[in-house]
Amino acid sequence: MIVLSNSTPFAEGGNRKCYVHPNNPGRCLKVVHPGLLEKIIKNKPWYKKLRSKNSFDDNLREQKAYNQKALTSNNPKIWNHLAKWYGMIETDIGIASETELIKNDNQIAETLENYLFTHGVTEEIKKSIEEFHIWLRENLILTKNLIPHNLVLKKQDGKIIIKIIDGLGPQAFIPLHDYSTYFAKRYVEKRIKLMWSRINWDLSGRKGNWK
Ligand SMILES: Nc1ncnc2c1ncn2[C@@H]1O[C@H](COP(=O)(O)OP(=O)(O)O)[C@@H](O)[C@H]1O
Ligand SMILES: [Mg+2]
Repeated sequence: MIVLSNSTPFAEGGNRKCYVHPNNPGRCLKVVHPGLLEKIIKNKPWYKKLRSKNSFDDNLREQKAYNQKALTSNNPKIWNHLAKWYGMIETDIGIASETELIKNDNQIAETLENYLFTHGVTEEIKKSIEEFHIWLRENLILTKNLIPHNLVLKKQDGKIIIKIIDGLGPQAFIPLHDYSTYFAKRYVEKRIKLMWSRINWDLSGRKGNWK
């Protein structure tokens, strides 16, 4: 079994701790914070408590999301802006999801949020964001809202490439296979519009509601 209890996470979000895979420096292992699912359920209204604990698990949500219709295509372009998925694996601190660790040389890639707070919306990043949006539209990848701290920046061929590392998969109520292209197009347009609202909200001091 993989031992993570001796390692320090390289980052963490609200749901998971992220580790470099001890046997593979090119992979990331994510484990849900201990006790988090119980805490989330405790704070939900009674009708949501009826849902199983699994339905709040971000690793399971992501596993399903990687099975979405758009990602069953053989077109290699579907991976241009998305960390690869390698399944779930047991560790001594719980089940982990295993994904591609996005790096630049030997440095773990920075988030889009970090970049924007440091440099603002430069011409260079604007181009990267536009290219990312073209990919979303062409491949109709379903994501939750695209938040800058869930996107990281890979430097490739003299350009910055945006990669999704969290937040893949549609909002909970949408089936993963049985939806129309018309629906998917509208859905993706909405995510693109909201990504810009979120960026502008982040950069203007997060006042009021961003949606
Ligand atoms: N595959 C990855 N490559 C590089 N950095 C990552 C990767 N996955 C996560 N990170 C970093 O870890 C942080 C938290 O990961 P995330 O998956 O967003 O956790 P959570 O589900 O708790 O929100 C991200 O904001 C990012 O900085
Ligand atoms: Mg996150």
